[in-house]
Amino acid sequence: MDWRQVRVAAVQHQADDIEALLWSEGALSVTLTPRDAPELLEPGPGETPLWQTLTVTALFGDDVDTDAVAGHLGARGLLCSADDLEDRVWEREWLRYFRPMRFGRKLWVSPTGFEVPDPGATVVWLDPGLAFGTGTHPTTALCLDWLDANLESGACVIDYGCGSGVLGVAAALLGAERVVCIDNDPQALDATYANAARNGIEVERGLPDQQLPEADVVLANILAGPLIELRPKLCGAVRAGGSVVLSGIKSDQGPVLRDAYASDLDALEATEREGWLRLTGRRRA
Ligand SMILES: C[S@@+](CC[C@H](N)C(=O)[O-])C[C@H]1O[C@@H](n2cnc3c(N)ncnc32)[C@H](O)[C@@H]1O
Repeated sequence: MDWRQVRVAAVQHQADDIEALLWSEGALSVTLTPRDAPELLEPGPGETPLWQTLTVTALFGDDVDTDAVAGHLGARGLLCSADDLEDRVWEREWLRYFRPMRFGRKLWVSPTGFEVPDPGATVVWLDPGLAFGTGTHPTTALCLDWLDANLESGACVIDYGCGSGVLGVAAALLGAERVVCIDNDPQALDATYANAARNGIEVERGLPDQQLPEADVVLANILAGPLIELRPKLCGAVRAGGSVVLSGIKSDQGPVLRDAYASDLDALEATEREGWLRLTGRRRA
């Protein structure tokens, strides 16, 4: 079956009305995407913030006269367009953008069903889902690179802000003996459970009120604000001489994070990738 779509340019306060109108015209799905708007980084669980400027896209079956739908919207002064959409295997569309990726020397993240071109690889099998973390984002990639280069087998690892669990699962597959994954979003903990199971391993999971073990490594890919707030907890959970790996820091936030962690960590090192920083250090005795 072929599909039709109508795309409408909107500003934030128009979005609800446009969406309601598109549903009333028979839309099968309505999607909101940003238009020349800055990234909305990491809303809290249950929060649904919206961009200032966006595109509202509605999908219709080929039995709907989408030129008429666009006409109704145009009559309200809205800028919109209608066009046809060729049918595709939509369930596999994301594969166009997500292929096996290598981190460091031997760590790979791959969608299921692909062949990883390295027989000695450690592979995290992972399909994109609702929780953040596939390795395509530089903040995740920076942590995966660190794990590949630095993780010692037998380590106890905390993945704080685990999202999909990609870092915790990678740590377990690279030889960590104990992995504790924490997130304030229960959906992320479900995703972590499913992704660990898909890789044939188990990790411990919990909300932030969970008691943390003394770890050799604490990884936290969150954002600068929460990383500063969480400093006592993250540094308190790692043994003296153990590693703290912080990611989700914009390059211009490096100095603030460095200052915040300088009294807890030795040997602070920053690594940059595509405008994002990873900050690592060793817990002072
Ligand atoms: C950018 S994602 C990182 C996911 C994954 N660890 C990765 O590296 O791709 C950040 C995750 O931290 C969680 N998070 C944000 N603030 C948090 C907090 N204060 N306590 C625990 N988890 C938090 C979010 O729900 C989200 O799943």
